[in-house]
Amino acid sequence: MVFPVSNKPIKWRSAGELRGLFLSYFEGLGAKRYPSFPLVPDDPTLLFTVAGMVPFKPYFLGLRTPEVGRATTSQKCIRTNDIENVGRTARHHTFFEMLGNFSFGDYFKKEVIPWAWEFLTERVGLDADRLYATIYLDDDEAHDMWKSLVGLPDDRIYRLGEDDNFWAAGPTGPCGPCSEIIYDQGPEFSCGRPDCGVGCSCDRYLEIWNLVFMQYSRDESGQLTPLPKKNIDTGMGLERLSSVVQGVKGDFETDLFKPIIDAASRIACVRYGEDKANDLAVRVISDHLRASAFMIADGILPSNEGPGYVLRRLIRRSARFGRSMGIDRPFLLELLPVVNEIMSDPYTELVEQRQAIEQIILTEEERFGRTLSQGIDLLDDELALARKAGSGKLSGGVAFMLYDTYGFPLELTEEISTEAGVSVDRGEFDSCMERQRERARASSKQSSAVMEKNVYTEAADRLGATKFDGYEVTSEDATVAAIIKDGVETASIRSGTEALVILSQTPFYAERGGQVGDRGVLRSAASRFEVADTIHPSGDLVAHRGTLVEGEMSVGMKIGAFVDEERRNAVRKHHTATHLLHEALGRVLGKHVRQAGSMVTPAFLRFDFNHFAPMTQEEIAEVERIVYSEVLAAKPVTTSVMSYAESRGTGVKALFEEKYGDVVRVVEVPGFSKELCGGIHVSNTGEIGLVRIVRDEGIGSGVRRINAVAGMVSLELFQGSSAALRNLYEVIGGDQDTVVQKAQDLVEERKTLERKNQEAMLRAMLDNVGRLIINSVRIDGTVLIAETLGKVSRDLLRQLGDRIKSAEKSVVMLFGAIEEDGQAALTCMASDEAVKRGVHAGNIVKEIAGAMGGSGGGKPAMGQGGSKDAGKLKEIMASAEGIVRRQLGK
Ligand code: ALA
Repeated sequence: MVFPVSNKPIKWRSAGELRGLFLSYFEGLGAKRYPSFPLVPDDPTLLFTVAGMVPFKPYFLGLRTPEVGRATTSQKCIRTNDIENVGRTARHHTFFEMLGNFSFGDYFKKEVIPWAWEFLTERVGLDADRLYATIYLDDDEAHDMWKSLVGLPDDRIYRLGEDDNFWAAGPTGPCGPCSEIIYDQGPEFSCGRPDCGVGCSCDRYLEIWNLVFMQYSRDESGQLTPLPKKNIDTGMGLERLSSVVQGVKGDFETDLFKPIIDAASRIACVRYGEDKANDLAVRVISDHLRASAFMIADGILPSNEGPGYVLRRLIRRSARFGRSMGIDRPFLLELLPVVNEIMSDPYTELVEQRQAIEQIILTEEERFGRTLSQGIDLLDDELALARKAGSGKLSGGVAFMLYDTYGFPLELTEEISTEAGVSVDRGEFDSCMERQRERARASSKQSSAVMEKNVYTEAADRLGATKFDGYEVTSEDATVAAIIKDGVETASIRSGTEALVILSQTPFYAERGGQVGDRGVLRSAASRFEVADTIHPSGDLVAHRGTLVEGEMSVGMKIGAFVDEERRNAVRKHHTATHLLHEALGRVLGKHVRQAGSMVTPAFLRFDFNHFAPMTQEEIAEVERIVYSEVLAAKPVTTSVMSYAESRGTGVKALFEEKYGDVVRVVEVPGFSKELCGGIHVSNTGEIGLVRIVRDEGIGSGVRRINAVAGMVSLELFQGSSAALRNLYEVIGGDQDTVVQKAQDLVEERKTLERKNQEAMLRAMLDNVGRLIINSVRIDGTVLIAETLGKVSRDLLRQLGDRIKSAEKSVVMLFGAIEEDGQAALTCMASDEAVKRGVHAGNIVKEIAGAMGGSGGGKPAMGQGGSKDAGKLKEIMASAEGIVRRQLGK
C-alpha cells in the first residue's frame, strides 16, 4: 500500500546540530556519551571500525564488564566494500559517522523503539506520516511494540528477511534481528518500477535508522548462541539524516560535503552539476579526502597492506580523479582546510595531527603523480591491444607490473580497464603476487635454517614445546632431552664440541619478539657447556647453542642450567625501556606512532616506528624526560596472563602484524603503558636507570629507527662523554660553560690565519709579476708566461692572472703546480686580445695534460687540467711555446 506523501516542512538543521541533538537526547536517557573511538579497532577480526558497536564488542560478548549499562556515540567509521560505488550513488561513502545508542544488558526493545520514534518525530521534527518500520520475519514482539507503543498501523510495518533485518558486524561475533526505520522521500526519488515500495533499494524509501536487538553470538561454523544478556545496538548515518533534514537530493549536497565539493570544483575550474564525469570526480574526492585525513589522524600510514593499503588507494584514487578533470599538480592539500573547517569540531585530532595529514597526503600524491602518466600510457596501450585481440582481458602480469612498478592499486587498474570494457585476469595477478612473496621469503630465510629444518621439526614433534621457567627463575635443574650436532641428533658429545642442546625445561629465554636469547652455562659435576645463544629452531622448542668446554654430555643426563644473570638483567632493563619509549614517543610525536620492529640486547635497544620526519632535539629531550619520570617514579612492573579476547578493549598495545595465541601476556607499567609481550622485564621501573636516545635515523619511507641505552650502559656512555670533555678542556682550556666558545674562537682564528696566509702568498706573487713578465717569451707581440708555482688557490691564480692581464694586452699564462700528493695541476689563462689572435687556453691545457698522461680542457680564455704524475711537468710545460705559436699561426 502506498500512502500519500504529506508536505509538512522540516526545520533545516546543520549536521553538527543533529549530532549534538542525538547525543544529548540519549545522554538525557542516562547513556554515557563517549567521544568517537579510533578508526582502527582493537580487534583482529576487523581492519576498520565499521559500526558504532565495534568498540563495545567485548561488552556485548560478556567478556568484559562495562562501566555503564547505556552508552551513546557518534562513531567515525570506514567501510571499504563498495569503494567503486562512492560518488556514483547519492549514499555510498568510505568514511561516515554513525550515531548510535547502546544497551549492555540494560534496556531492550520496548524502550528503544519508542525512543527512536520520539527522537525522529519530536526532536528532529520528521513528519510521522512519512515514516515506516521494517522488522525481522517472525519478530512479533517488535511488531506489537511498533503498534502498541508507537501507534504505527499494521500496514506501515513490513516484515523482511535475513538480508534486510538481521544484522552482524562480521562473519562471527555478536548479531541479532533488527528493525529499521524508513523515511519516504517522495515519488520524485522513486525508481519508477511498479513494485517500488518499502524494501526497494532505490532512494525513495530510505532506511535511516537501524535498531539491532543484539542477542546472539555467531561462531565460525555459523552457529548462533544466545548472549549472556540482551543488548541494543543502533546505528543511524549522520550523512543520511542530514540529507533528509536539509531536504537535499543526496548526502553530497549536505553541509558535510558541499563545501569540499565546491572547493574542489573551483580548483578544477568546473561547475558542479554541469557534467556527469566531473560531478563524479569531485564527489569521489570529497569522500576520499575526508577518509584519508581521518585515517592519518588515527595513525594509519600509506603502505602495501592492511589499513595502509586502503589509505594509499584512497589518496591515489583522488589524485587520479583530479587528473581526469585536468588538475595536473598535487591539489588535495588545498582542500584540507575545508575538511577541517567542517569536521574539526568535535574531531580535534584533525587539528592536532594537521602536520602529519598534510605531509603524508602531499608525499603520497607527489609520489603517485610521478608515475601516474607513465602507468596510464602503458595501461592504455595494453587495453588497446586487448581490445584488438578481441580477448577483452588484460593479463594479470601487466596488472602486477602496474602494481609493483607504478604503484597502481589493483582496483585502480580494474576500474580503468572496466571503463574500457576489458576485465583483468585476477587469478594471474594473484599468482604473480604469490611468486613475489615466495621470493621475498626465500631471500630472507637463512639457508642453514632451511637445511636444518628437518631435524628440528622432528625434535619439536617428538618433544613438544619446551617448558620455559625463565619468568620466575634464572637457574634450575633439568634433563638433557636431545643433542644436535652438525644438524644431526646424537646421543652424546665430547669436550670441545659445538652443539645445540634441548632440555626438559629451561630458564633460558630464547630469542623472540626482538629480545635476544640468553647466555649462560649448563653444568654437571664433571662437565660444562657454555651457552652462547638460545633460539627457537622450530615452534616453541628451545635450543641452547654453544660449546661443551669440559667433560661429556649425553641425552638423559641431569644438569643445572644457569643463565648469565648480569647479562639478562641488562636485557631486562632495555626491554622495559623499550615499552616506556614506545609510549613516550606516541605522547610526544602523535598517536600515529606504532612499533614497526625492535631489538633488545644487553648493550642497547633499537626501536623502529612510523613517523614521517626526523625527531628534533626538543622532541628527543622530551621523550627522554617522560621516560625518566617513569623511572624515577619507581613503579612496579606487572605482568598478567589472560585470554586474547579479554585483553581487547583495555587499551593494550598489540602489534598489527603479530599473531597472538589464545593466551596472551600483558606487561603493564601502571598508569603509563600496557603492551602484549612475552619478553622479560624488570620488576620495578627504578631498575632501568637513565634511558638515553643515542641515535635517530630514517630507514625507508615513513619509518624511523632510534637506538637507546639504559642501565649501566648509560653510565658508561655518560662517563665516556665526560672523559672526552675533560680531555677537551685540557687541550683547549675552559670548562663546561666556556669550552664551546673556546672551540669557536679557535675555528675563527684558524680562518683568519688562513686568509692572512693567502694574502701573504698573493703579495709575494704579485711582487713577482714584473719578474714573470721579464722571463716570458714574446711571440709576435703576445706574451707567453709558463711557470711552475707552489700550491696556490684558484682564487689567487685568478687575481694573479688579472694583474698580469692589466700589465700586458695580449698575454697567455700557463701555471703548473705540484700538489702534496704528487699530482700535477694545470691552469691556463688568455687575455681577450690573445684569444682574438687565435689562442685557446683550454686546448693548450688539453695538449699538455695529455702529454703527461692526464687530461684537461676548457674555454679559449681559461683552461684547467691535471695529471696523476707530475714527473716531467717542467719539460712538458716548455712545449707550450710551440703550441701557442701554432695557435697564433706563427
Ligand atoms: N550496527 C548496526 C549497523 O551498523 C546498527 O547497522
